[in-house]
Amino acid sequence: MEKHNQTGGIVPEVAARDSAEQILPAITKAMNGFQGDMADIDAIAVTAGPGLMGSLLVGIETARSLAYIHNKPLIPIHHISGHICANRLLRKEPPDFPVLVLTVSGGHNEIILWENDFDFKKLGHTLDDSAGEAFDKVARLLGLGFPGGPAIAELAKDGYEKAFQFPKPMLQSKDFDFSFSGLKTAVLYQIRDLGGLENMNHTTRADVAASFQEAVTETLSRKLLQAVEKYRSVREIHLSGGVSANQKLREKIFLWSEKLQLEFHFPEKLEFCTDNAAMIAGAGYWKYKKFPEKDWKWQDVQPMMGHDFF
Ligand code: KG4
Ligand code: ZN
Repeated sequence: MEKHNQTGGIVPEVAARDSAEQILPAITKAMNGFQGDMADIDAIAVTAGPGLMGSLLVGIETARSLAYIHNKPLIPIHHISGHICANRLLRKEPPDFPVLVLTVSGGHNEIILWENDFDFKKLGHTLDDSAGEAFDKVARLLGLGFPGGPAIAELAKDGYEKAFQFPKPMLQSKDFDFSFSGLKTAVLYQIRDLGGLENMNHTTRADVAASFQEAVTETLSRKLLQAVEKYRSVREIHLSGGVSANQKLREKIFLWSEKLQLEFHFPEKLEFCTDNAAMIAGAGYWKYKKFPEKDWKWQDVQPMMGHDFF
């Protein structure tokens, strides 16, 4: 993360080199913390996409090598199914399906109907930037570091959320799609109207951060509520992905889910909000269980791009 902070965002080449340096020490660390050895492991799961190709290849080639050497099934996992399963990692009982999930990260932003253990139906997605990307870009405009989400949330504590009226995109549309690039541009123009960052004091910057956070979280929360109103059989509401760490967003969803007597879940630990290996292992476990007859050959695992597979 430090390297990405220095470059002001994720540079694919830097990320791939970083993954290559860290993957074997990370696997060694995980195995050292595990009360068993390779013989006790039933299967290996790996993120197959979507993502940056260089980093995906590092993960996939390492997993293919491990699966080949140890003769284990290799299960390709869609990154977003990992985020969804993050909400199940510490739960003893399965969720009360169907579950409506809002997944929000730096690279993705969807509303998904989680129908059963490993059955997902995408209801909507972002047409351009994800909410996390908007947080990161606006953080940059405000001279804050990477990742932008936590930095904006911190600065917003000193600001007034109604100081500026930023657009809440797509709320009138009847679908469950999102679009956040216009909001980022509105913030850009606002900062310009205020004379640029150098002419804004701490309070004004905090007001911009708070108003921006208000627009994003209100949009996400209301879109999710619209989906709940349509899919009335839903029993639980879930929030996942890096932006699920956002307190304001959690509060907004909590308020209406409580009124509607729906259970609301988000990752129990902060490290399960942002990208983590445990959620991929969890998704691998539930996918493996769903297809007991399948022969999961390492030769079949390739990087998968696009958002339409699970
Ligand atoms: O899931 P994730 O770790 O990576 C992707 O799959 O993209 O999500 C990272 C994103 C970043 O855009 C970061 O700014 C955002 O999650 N994020 C937050 C917060 N913590 C992380 N956004 C808003 N508020 C937060 N507290
Ligand atoms: Zn992610």
